[in-house]
Amino acid sequence: MSGDPKANAARAALDFIEHGMIVGLGTGSTSAHFVRQLGERVAQGLKVKGVPTSEATRNLAEQTGVPLLEISQVAAIDVDVDGADEVDTAFRLIKGGGGALLREKIVAAASRRMVVIADASKWVETLGAFPLPVEVTRFGFALTAQRIADALRATGCAGDEVALRVAGKANEPVITDGGNYIIDAHARSIRDAEALAAALQAIPGVVEHGLFLGLAQVVIIGNATGAEVKTL
Ligand code: A5P
Repeated sequence: MSGDPKANAARAALDFIEHGMIVGLGTGSTSAHFVRQLGERVAQGLKVKGVPTSEATRNLAEQTGVPLLEISQVAAIDVDVDGADEVDTAFRLIKGGGGALLREKIVAAASRRMVVIADASKWVETLGAFPLPVEVTRFGFALTAQRIADALRATGCAGDEVALRVAGKANEPVITDGGNYIIDAHARSIRDAEALAAALQAIPGVVEHGLFLGLAQVVIIGNATGAEVKTL
C-alpha cells in the first residue's frame, strides 16, 4: 500500500476485476491511479478490455497498455470503476467535477456493477456542498442556466447560484468531450436529490446532470494505510 488514499482506494478496486472482463474506466485523479494499476496487471498477463469515459482516460489507458473498446462495440460492461466528487450514505453521487459526466453516466448505466473509488473527503451526509455539474447545449445556455436555478429553488436546495464553467486566462467556456458547456449549480445542500434530478432532466438544453442515483453498488474509501470497502 502507498500512503496515498486515492491510490489505495484504486488498488482495492482491482479485487473486483476478473480475467476476461470489460471494465469501465472512470475519469479524474483517483481513476487515473486505477488505470495505471490496471495497466500493470495487464502487463503481468491479466486479460481485460477497457471502455474509457473521456479522451483523457483514453490517452492514459493507451499509454499504460490497457486494451480498449469503443462504447459502440459493447452490449454491456462487467464493472465500472470511477471516482466521485461526493458520495452520500445511500451511495448517491455527485460527479462531473472533471467535466466527463455524460460519458461517465452512459458507461455507469451500461455496467452490471459500479465501484466508486474516493478518499474520505468525498464521503458526505448530504449532497450539494460540491457544485453540481450540469452539461448543457451551447445553444440557449443562458436560458437553460436560469431554468436550472429555478429547479434548485423548486426542489428546496439551500442555494440557487449557477455559473458557466470557464477556464484559462481568457475565461473561455470549458467545452466537454461532447462539445457542450457545463453549468455548475451551487445547490449548497440538496434536500431531495431524486426530485432535483427529475427537474433537471426535464429542462430543454440539459444534456445530462451530475447526480448519479441508484448506480453505485460498491464504494471504496481509501485512507493512508488501506481502504474500506462499503456495499449497499
Ligand atoms: C470527472 O468528471 C469526475 O466525475 C471525477 O470522477 C470526479 O471529479 C473525481 O475526481 P478526482 O478523483 O480527481 O477527485
